[in-house]
Amino acid sequence: MVSTSLNSHPFSSPRIGIIGAGKVGSTLAQRIIEKNLADVVLLDIVEGMPQAIALDLTQARAVEGHDRQILGTNNYADLAGCDLVVITAGKPRTPGMNRNDLIETNATIVTRAVREAIAYCPNAMWIAVTNPLDVMTYCVWKTSQLPTQRVMGMAGVLDSARFQTFIALELGCSVSDVSALVLGSHGDTMVPLPRFSTVRGIPITELMDNETIERLVNRTRHGGAEVVKLMKTGGAYYAPASSVYLMIEAIVRDRSRYLPVTSYLQGEYGLNDIYLGVPCRLGAQGVESILELELTIAEREALHQSTESVRQGLEIVEKIMQIGF
Ligand code: LAC
Repeated sequence: MVSTSLNSHPFSSPRIGIIGAGKVGSTLAQRIIEKNLADVVLLDIVEGMPQAIALDLTQARAVEGHDRQILGTNNYADLAGCDLVVITAGKPRTPGMNRNDLIETNATIVTRAVREAIAYCPNAMWIAVTNPLDVMTYCVWKTSQLPTQRVMGMAGVLDSARFQTFIALELGCSVSDVSALVLGSHGDTMVPLPRFSTVRGIPITELMDNETIERLVNRTRHGGAEVVKLMKTGGAYYAPASSVYLMIEAIVRDRSRYLPVTSYLQGEYGLNDIYLGVPCRLGAQGVESILELELTIAEREALHQSTESVRQGLEIVEKIMQIGF
């Protein structure tokens, strides 16, 4: 596989690493190669599993009609030359679990994986997907010591997609006409913004009463948990994989898309030294800028409130990183 460095743009033959070949990782790999976006290196610690998925997806190429390459591996050295690495590795939630219940286990998994990978692809960009998302993204950044615009997390695209879906279902309209914005942490205190959510430019506040909007906001906040409750043994993966794909495509094709991205804040929205979901311009350089919206007092308070559980998580993570492993 030939690869280009991130700075040589456009990405003529991009190579994407995915750490964690579970449901999200393998579905993402399928999306990337079958949409002919990039070649993929799918890594997992379970022997045989990433190799089997890669072989299966390679056999499907004859039917799907593409020539993208996918390598399944247990060896971090195979990430050499990756332009971007997505980390999905970690324990998923089970019913009744809060995303923060996963902190200690997943911080250890993520930190170890980043340390191993960075030796082979020191210049790659990173997208974190492991939960609790905002805390794990911070973990990736702290461990990798990369510039903040090259380390980000996926949550806002997924949470906004869920809000969009529930708005479209309520109105009985095409989801293509709905645009929605969800900011803040990827947790129960995420901040869906009805004022910035529209149907062909018409704010939903013009189309629904407050009670309906509140119901959709609540369903969005618990959109992941609703799937976990039904699935019992894990969480969502189709919509999460599609959401990461959208971010990767924006970067690889340098599309300068405005998307909600879990980004490092340095004073924006009055917040410092934290990763949180905010609207960003996403392109070949990663998070190219952060858009600071004029929020109402209530929206700003909700955003600040959503940092509380993230800050608690960060304290635990800092301790784990100080102890080392
Ligand atoms: C969810 C997981 C990816 O929200 O956090 O479904």
